[in-house]
Amino acid sequence: EYRMKIAIDGTAASGKGTLSENLSQELKLPRLDTGLLYRKLAFVYIKSLKLTSIKNIIDNSILKSILNDFDLNDLESEALKLDLYGNFASRIGKLDFVRKKLKIIQIEYVENMIKKKGGCILDGRDIGTEILPNADFKFYIDAPIKTRAKRRFKQLYSTNKSIEFKNILLDLKKRDINDKSRKNSPLILSKDSILIDTELLNPQQVLRKALYYIKKNK
Ligand code: C5P
Repeated sequence: EYRMKIAIDGTAASGKGTLSENLSQELKLPRLDTGLLYRKLAFVYIKSLKLTSIKNIIDNSILKSILNDFDLNDLESEALKLDLYGNFASRIGKLDFVRKKLKIIQIEYVENMIKKKGGCILDGRDIGTEILPNADFKFYIDAPIKTRAKRRFKQLYSTNKSIEFKNILLDLKKRDINDKSRKNSPLILSKDSILIDTELLNPQQVLRKALYYIKKNK
C-alpha cells in the first residue's frame, strides 16, 4: 500500500493527465488535475463578460472578484476541455495573484487528502517546482509537438469535423511558449524529476514505466 504525494508536470497533450488518472487508479490515491482550476477560472471569467468578444486586455478586478469565492467544485464539466478555455487559462496563468490564490486552494486539497486518503497525485505545470516541492515522486511528461498535436487532433476531430490540424499545432506551440517562458512558476524540467517521453509509448507502457520507478524507489 502506498502513502505518498506524486507530482506530474508536462506539456499540453503530452499524456500527463492520462498517466495521472492511471496512477490514481493503480495506487488508489485521489487525483487533482490542476489545469482544470485554471480552465474553470477562464470559463467563469469569459462567461462573466456575457459574450462580449474576448478582449485583449484582461480585467484584473473581475478576475479577483471571481477568485474571492473560487473553489474545487464543478471541475467535471465537459465544456472546460475546449481549447478556448485551455488557451485562455494559459494567459491568465501568468498573473501572480491568480497563481497565489490557486496555490492556496491546491495546498488545502493536498493537506486534506493526506489526512483523509494518505496522499494524492497532482498534475499540471508547476507541481514539482511550486506546489509539491517535497513530493515523493516527480514526473515530467513530454512528447514532440507534432505527436501531441496529432493526439489532440484525433481527440477533437471525433466531435468536431471542422477543426484543422494546423490550428491545433499552432495553439500548442503558443501554449508551450507561454507556459515555459512566463516569469511565475514556468514549466521546467527540474533536476529531481523523472522524464518520460511518451512519443512511442501507449498509456499502459507509460504507466508501467512510472510504476516501475515508484516501486524501485519507494
Ligand atoms: O493542463 P491543461 O491544458 O488543462 O492546462 C491549461 C493551462 O493552465 C495550461 O496551459 C497552463 O497555462 C495553465 N496551468 C498552469 N499551472 C498548472 C496547470 C495549468 O499554469 N499547474
